[in-house]
Amino acid sequence: MIERMERFPTLNGTPPTFHEYARRIEHVKKIIVKHPKFNEAMRQLEEVHELSKESVLAESLYIGGRTGVGKTTLLEQYLERYPRKMMKTYTHVPILYVKVPPRAKSPKALASKILRQLGDLLFDSGSEENMTERIQTYVQKCHIEMIILDEFQHLIDRDTQHVLALASDWLKTLAEEIRIPVVLCGLPESQRIFEHNEQLDGRYANRILFEQFHFGSREEQLEFRKFLKYMDDQLPFCESSNLGDPQTAAKIYYFSHGVPRYIKDLLREATKIALRKGEDCLTERALRDAYHRITRSVRPFAINPFEQSNFDLREVMEVEQKMEEAFLKKSQEARKQGRKKK
Ligand SMILES: Nc1ncnc2c1ncn2[C@@H]1O[C@H](COP(=O)(O)OP(=O)(O)OP(=O)(O)O)[C@@H](O)[C@H]1O
Ligand SMILES: [Mg+2]
Repeated sequence: MIERMERFPTLNGTPPTFHEYARRIEHVKKIIVKHPKFNEAMRQLEEVHELSKESVLAESLYIGGRTGVGKTTLLEQYLERYPRKMMKTYTHVPILYVKVPPRAKSPKALASKILRQLGDLLFDSGSEENMTERIQTYVQKCHIEMIILDEFQHLIDRDTQHVLALASDWLKTLAEEIRIPVVLCGLPESQRIFEHNEQLDGRYANRILFEQFHFGSREEQLEFRKFLKYMDDQLPFCESSNLGDPQTAAKIYYFSHGVPRYIKDLLREATKIALRKGEDCLTERALRDAYHRITRSVRPFAINPFEQSNFDLREVMEVEQKMEEAFLKKSQEARKQGRKKK
């Protein structure tokens, strides 16, 4: 508590200077809570990495999870532990992190992205075979121990929803030849790639789903409240905002559906509002106003939970669902009417 007050002294009603305001907002952006699901996924990554060092056969891992649950955050945290090092004759790259480019129709697009991440100045040139060979050489030369491919769903064509067969075949062969683990990470729908590529499917038996928080059982509620409490403890204010309080947690759950991205967005905007007023914690008013600043196009019927004094999570979720259903029915009927007129 003392440390918190030293780092973020009381504002006592006076808005901070712009420099201090920016410092505090930057601090919010960097908050990372190592919650149980996060730690479990981290442990699995570590295991695949370590086991493969000792084995002739590389382990493999697939991590799936909906947008915003923290997949990239997790991978970045793992990467931080293994920074690149300039050696006398080569750069040591313990882990290579690559985002699969969108529309990687040909293997060359993916190979080129990997070469680019490796610092190859001619990343775009050469035949597919030549690029593949260069990657293999880099793996040995740079002592790469593991490759992580994020945004794996990009191996599905967005327009046609077809799995990009050439690129996924190439990936399977590459993973076999380089004999180091290739961790795949993406949205849950990326699992469809395995259905279309039996060999990749067999190789990636080890799959984990990185889930958002839930708020059903008592245990789930406690886990979510603990997450919020850790967030709260790290906020750039000298006082606690009581985010782990059951009512506040239920409201934040309603807003975010347990997805860390939305929680972070809400807290960042609320922090801006509170700081501008010189407040020393997040008030319900700041959360309410922050809600208005965040547009959630996918939930047109959501209400602002921070405007309600007697908030009942189940009730508001039911109301929202009924409104969505009614809207859907109405638009279907309107479409039918339109067709009849034609
Ligand atoms: N454990 C966490 N603690 C604090 N903030 C988190 C945590 N996990 C995720 N976030 C925040 O949520 C946001 C989204 O996280 P991230 O980009 O890792 O999600 P993602 O699963 O990779 O999403 P996408 O599938 O869209 O790429 C980030 O701004 C990050 O700061
Ligand atoms: Mg991501």
